[in-house]
Amino acid sequence: MRLLTGDRPTGRLHLGHYVGSLKKRVELQDKYETYLLVADLHMLTTKLEKADIQKVLDNARGMVLDHLACGIDPAKVTIYLQSAVPEIYELNLICEMLVTVNRLSRLPSLKDMARAAHITEMPFGLLGYPVLQAADILLPRAHVVPVGKDNAAHVEITREIAGRFNRLYGEVFPEPELLLGDVPTLVGTDGKQKMSKSLNNAIFLSDDAATVEKKIRATFTDPKRVHADVPGTVEGNPVFIYHDAFNDDRAEVADLKERYQRGGVGDAEVKAKLTAAINRFLAPLRERYARYEKDPALVDRILLDGTEKMREVARATMKEVRSAMGIGSAWNRLRKAAERRAKEG
Ligand code: TRP
Repeated sequence: MRLLTGDRPTGRLHLGHYVGSLKKRVELQDKYETYLLVADLHMLTTKLEKADIQKVLDNARGMVLDHLACGIDPAKVTIYLQSAVPEIYELNLICEMLVTVNRLSRLPSLKDMARAAHITEMPFGLLGYPVLQAADILLPRAHVVPVGKDNAAHVEITREIAGRFNRLYGEVFPEPELLLGDVPTLVGTDGKQKMSKSLNNAIFLSDDAATVEKKIRATFTDPKRVHADVPGTVEGNPVFIYHDAFNDDRAEVADLKERYQRGGVGDAEVKAKLTAAINRFLAPLRERYARYEKDPALVDRILLDGTEKMREVARATMKEVRSAMGIGSAWNRLRKAAERRAKEG
């Protein structure tokens, strides 16, 4: 069984990515033949300046490194660069025939993306975002797709496209199963919005211990607590959300919560223990970062080899697609006829 998932290469990954997807990906790599794409063509739907494109390679390298640091094993996972697989563009066009504009224009996810990117007029390519995603998923004939809520409708569209294709031309594609990551999105250190690089409220997986300490010291907590002896609120408090997500010492977390709620602990202690916990959590990642950073050619090799492998898979699928549709046959007959004529005359 094959699994496909991926991200747009817009920057380094942070704790929000870890709880939202990376943790699950590391578990799933042992269960499925896993494909991980760096979706640089999807990035173009909202970021298409030359300067953005120029940053793709560095961001891709960082993204791969972040995955490796979390424990993604390149021996199990095929990591590839979307724009380097020509068959994706080709299958994208075929998928475009199998979905309606109406179906796509109703998707809230596309309106959200346009709004976030300050785009007022929907570009054709952004409307086609889920179609390109369908091409990604169908190309390796993936059986499962783990994504967050915002991408769930795109997997549903992929199933519709696969079904439509199979009915028209014969069984070529499995209808991929959605594996919904049902974890709530992690709040940023500002305590207001979701953790995000562009909002400047993120703790990155690659942050060093001193940076983690600084960021946690500045993290928003219960604003009503002007003193350590004022009872505080644990629910929705970023510091305790992080304790719940990353502190492996559950007894310590329970004790801190109990004292916080009755005004028996200061923010400084809660934060110092959180810093220690996050640094404990990041310790094995830092070891892997150090190993891979010693040999930068290794990350490049992983991306190169993964892309080569994906191209082979892609060629095999497209051969079946063309033969099922009979789409290459006009050209083949044209060539054969010409050959025959050349021989005859
Ligand atoms: N849409 C994903 C995102 O939000 C990236 C992506 C592109 C993807 N193609 C995919 C995810 C295929 C899962 C499967 O960045």
